[in-house]
Amino acid sequence: MRVHGRWMVVSTVAALSLAVSSAWAAEKTGREVVEQTCVACHASGKDGAPKIGDVPAWTQRSKLGLAKLTESAIAGIGKMPAHGGQPNLSDLEMSRAIAFMVSFGKAVDPSKPYATPTSSTGEQLVQGHCVACHGDGKDGAPRLNDFSAWKPRLQKGMDGLLRSAITGHKAMPARSGMANLSDTDLKNAVTYMVVQSATYKAK
Ligand code: HEC
Ligand code: HEC
Repeated sequence: MRVHGRWMVVSTVAALSLAVSSAWAAEKTGREVVEQTCVACHASGKDGAPKIGDVPAWTQRSKLGLAKLTESAIAGIGKMPAHGGQPNLSDLEMSRAIAFMVSFGKAVDPSKPYATPTSSTGEQLVQGHCVACHGDGKDGAPRLNDFSAWKPRLQKGMDGLLRSAITGHKAMPARSGMANLSDTDLKNAVTYMVVQSATYKAK
């Protein structure tokens, strides 16, 4: 029974890792994202959005680097809503769209990420920030090393858990209260927490 239980844990984690990689595999190109979402404001310059093709406007904004532009587009800036109002666009898709706009549709390889705003690993984030609640189970947060607390939540799949972390869930604040955390940061942190809970052995 014990052995069987352990195998269940191992295969659950393996299945989740697979779900993560496939969920992130089919991402849109920069052109697709821009044509489907960003043109709504960036074609006409609505609310002061820099227009696609307006070289001086984009040159001015790209001075701080693509990573900085990607961060503001993900977190939202002025009248521009976070993720262009499409929370389901991934960081990679956002960065491709920005590269497409900044290069006026001439991005050499539209499948390349160009910029990633991620600066900390999942472990650093969890140990430095998420533990504030997930360490001792504050407000009912599932504790880090408590697989039985995580197990019923895993039914949502990694995608579902990541959505909760992005939009917030009951007492858990959106993006864990850090608006500047990217989806990639959150994905790494959630993955770390789940794997940690499933593989933890009491010393
Ligand atoms: C609802 C309108 C709207 C949509 C949709 C929209 N934007 Fe914007 N965007 C704006 C506005 C307005 C600004 C100027 C904000 C400011 O600097 O005050 C802006 C600015 C930006 C900037 C410059 C940020 C900076 O740091 O200067 C980037 C990059 C950007 N948008 C990317 C995108 C991408 C990528 C999409 C599509 C996924 C998108 N936007 C969709 C309105 C929009
Ligand atoms: C201010 C306290 C707090 C912080 C900080 C916090 N959490 Fe949470 N988190 C909670 C609480 C409370 C819950 C349980 C909410 C519920 O009842 O489903 C939770 C639940 C979750 C869940 C499960 C959601 C679900 O759908 O079942 C995930 C995933 C999660 N947190 C990820 C994170 C990550 C990643 C971080 C750090 C980047 C973090 N949390 C930081 C309080 C926090």
